[in-house]
Amino acid sequence: MIYLNGDFLPIEEARVPVLDRGFIFGDGVYEVIPVYSHKPFRLAEHLLRLQHSLDGIRLQNPHSDEEWGSLVEQIIASNDGDDQYLYLHVTRGVARRDHAFPKGVIPTVFIMSNPLLAPPRELLATGVAAITADDNRWLRCDIKAISLLPNVLLRQMAIDAGAMETILLRDGFMTEGAASNIFLAKDGVLLAPPKNHLMLPGITYDVVLELAAAEKIPCEVREVSEYELRTAQELLLTSSTREIMPVTRLDGKPVGEGKPGAMFARLYRLYQSYKQTTMRGSAKILEVHNR
Ligand code: PDD
Repeated sequence: MIYLNGDFLPIEEARVPVLDRGFIFGDGVYEVIPVYSHKPFRLAEHLLRLQHSLDGIRLQNPHSDEEWGSLVEQIIASNDGDDQYLYLHVTRGVARRDHAFPKGVIPTVFIMSNPLLAPPRELLATGVAAITADDNRWLRCDIKAISLLPNVLLRQMAIDAGAMETILLRDGFMTEGAASNIFLAKDGVLLAPPKNHLMLPGITYDVVLELAAAEKIPCEVREVSEYELRTAQELLLTSSTREIMPVTRLDGKPVGEGKPGAMFARLYRLYQSYKQTTMRGSAKILEVHNR
């Protein structure tokens, strides 16, 4: 079952008019929210990021947090599986094609659920391959826009090269992955680029930094140069659907020793234990977490 503009219905029956500005212009924003044991993880943070994206494209939020919370709960309850991931999407609505904003148009709201599968053990054991590419996206990568054509082309470059992710470089510095955030480890220090307009502020990124801080793992949040990326002992990739994964090859060369390292092992353990306790636990679903 999906939600579309006030109705719950099977996805096969859902229809959007061809003049929807999401279809015509990619004029909309989205969120991906993991659900563990029927509970949306960090819903309040996802809704804050949604608000930031809506503000970024000057579109009024069609729902209050409580209304979003209720829609999300209903979608979770009407889909199978303890663990799901929700895709939540808002466009500027249906209007005659004109780049300028239409007046008096109701936004389109769509929510669907898919099964959330943990990354396969084999991949966690070997790590995954990544390639690098120039970050040729716009300068508002902090907006989670549905117009993802650059990300689609960049990610496909990785697939064509037999790799899982493309790590992006802008002006000699690493920004993020085509669909993930990237961390480095060197000499026991965890390194991450700062949140700014050049990357999506990942919810999983926050979790990893919080877990590291709580364990007193030394962390540096600062710009990461291409040289540091290429000489890192470990690379880690994070996202709501892929949790935390080791990247063990970059542009065909081994990262460090070419196998998942100590930083990955530690953060992976912490992440899994956090998942079993807090994510599957009883935290209030609209609570905002301390950073
Ligand atoms: N993407 N950066 C980009 C460009 C992303 O697309 C994503 C996630 C992230 C990680 O953010 P988070 O930890 O909040 O998932 C970083 C989602 C999963 C997607 O588009 O499917």
